[in-house]
Amino acid sequence: MQDFEPTVIAFVCNWCTYTAADLAGTARLVYAPSVRLIRIMCTGMLDAKYVIKAFLEGAEAVLVSGCRPGDCHYLNGNYKARRRVKLLKEILPHFGIVPERLKLTWIGASDGIEFAETVTRLAETARRLGPSEARRAMIL
Ligand code: FES
Repeated sequence: MQDFEPTVIAFVCNWCTYTAADLAGTARLVYAPSVRLIRIMCTGMLDAKYVIKAFLEGAEAVLVSGCRPGDCHYLNGNYKARRRVKLLKEILPHFGIVPERLKLTWIGASDGIEFAETVTRLAETARRLGPSEARRAMIL
């Protein structure tokens, strides 16, 4: 388990968290290498089935991150995302997935350090939880 590197899928809003991730990259901040960014225009457009599909295809953790409350470029998209993530956390156990593997955050465009710390912490959580339940089910 020592060399286990969890896959983290991060659905990030174009206007805030994606820019923060870009800033983290240009500032050469170190964060978990297995984070895969999926840029969406707003967290409000995130369909819950994208998250479930990510888990079923082997992601150990999923991050949904967008603009801070009140800063969404589409007014209330992040509030919609918050409701969907809350619902997803109730649904995930039915798929055998630990809800702790899903995280919602608000990271502003200038918060590159916060982005790096958040994805690193989530990768550590995923490492502690081990390979995803869906991945283990596929192996068996
Ligand atoms: S535009 Fe960033 S969360 Fe809506």
